[in-house]
Amino acid sequence: MPYTNRQLKLAVRPKDLITPDVLVLSESPIAPLEEGQALARVKYLSIDPTMRVWMADIPQYMPPVQIGDVMRAFGLAEIIESRHPDFKKGDKVSGLTGFQEYALITGKETRGFQKLPSIPFLSDINFLNILGINGMTAYFGLLDLAKPQSGETLVVSAAAGATGSIVGQLGKIHGCRVVGIAGTDEKCKWIKENLGFDAAINYKHPDWKAQLAAATPKGVDINFENVGGEVMQAVLDRMNLHGRVVLCGLISGYTKQDPGLASFGQVLIKRLRVEGFIIFDYVSRFMEAGQKLGMWKMTGKLESRETIVKGLEKAPDAINMLFRGDNIGKLIVEL
Ligand SMILES: NC(=O)c1ccc[n+]([C@@H]2O[C@H](COP(=O)([O-])OP(=O)(O)OC[C@H]3O[C@@H](n4cnc5c(N)ncnc54)[C@H](OP(=O)(O)O)[C@@H]3O)[C@@H](O)[C@H]2O)c1
Repeated sequence: MPYTNRQLKLAVRPKDLITPDVLVLSESPIAPLEEGQALARVKYLSIDPTMRVWMADIPQYMPPVQIGDVMRAFGLAEIIESRHPDFKKGDKVSGLTGFQEYALITGKETRGFQKLPSIPFLSDINFLNILGINGMTAYFGLLDLAKPQSGETLVVSAAAGATGSIVGQLGKIHGCRVVGIAGTDEKCKWIKENLGFDAAINYKHPDWKAQLAAATPKGVDINFENVGGEVMQAVLDRMNLHGRVVLCGLISGYTKQDPGLASFGQVLIKRLRVEGFIIFDYVSRFMEAGQKLGMWKMTGKLESRETIVKGLEKAPDAINMLFRGDNIGKLIVEL
């Protein structure tokens, strides 16, 4: 059956947030499948802050998306036709689908597409949050890099987001006092009342730094940093001697010149260990993390939440939602 693909391609590089000229919609027919190819209908797109980085022509951990390319994105899809030995019609897959309605998988270039296992207590969407990049990032960033000990104080920023909400819950599972920093009272209420954080601080309140001090009476042993800038500075000022700073993300600097830190001196004075990481370095251990995260989900120790936006044409502004703080939990575009 002939299909028409609708795709969002990078037309110009964004200067700040994504304006309507940055990603343009185009339509093209899909050629009949050749031997070794499979066609997948994309169902869900994962919206990630790093997309804004991928659009910029700056040194980064993957090549930037080139002008004219379909915008890179993770997604979930269902195989609708196959002449590929590894995939059959009806298989659900995850991988780099891109901002498009159909993804072609070829024998040579599978873009890491993997079949989703069918596990009764996990929804498809769980493979984009708890068992997706965000779950993996929370797991390895916190447990491998920071190695939390019972009784320690953990502070996580962007705490009601996809990664931060899992980090905080993992901190509780490991016996930490967990303090989350987020941008609305609704987010703070969710992480405290539903996810069991010990304290939640809205960094948009005028006295939030005093609240942070009150919420961390024994100082901070682990800072899981998702934001950077002023938020990170305030947490560094509360760090204990030999504390650990997991540099996961610096979203406050993705759309503008990185504000950096007013003073890097706390790292020296407090003898901190600051370590950046990129989750793709841990791919060979995803199975290990998946088993643990799946077990915590099954036993009710991990909760997740999604903000879902419908329609491919909404995908460009969905990226902006991350920078406006419009999402609670994982931000997803449903096609
Ligand atoms: N190292 C890795 O391999 C890796 C992998 C995945 C993600 N990350 C990073 O982890 C961080 C979180 O990613 P995510 O996918 O889980 O996104 P997310 O937390 O679900 O969404 C981003 C959140 O960041 C907050 N934010 C945006 N601009 C901000 C600013 N200027 N100051 C303070 N907070 C701001 C917003 O919440 P508020 O309402 O609270 O402001 C927003 O909801 C990002 O920095 C991302 O780049 C890193």
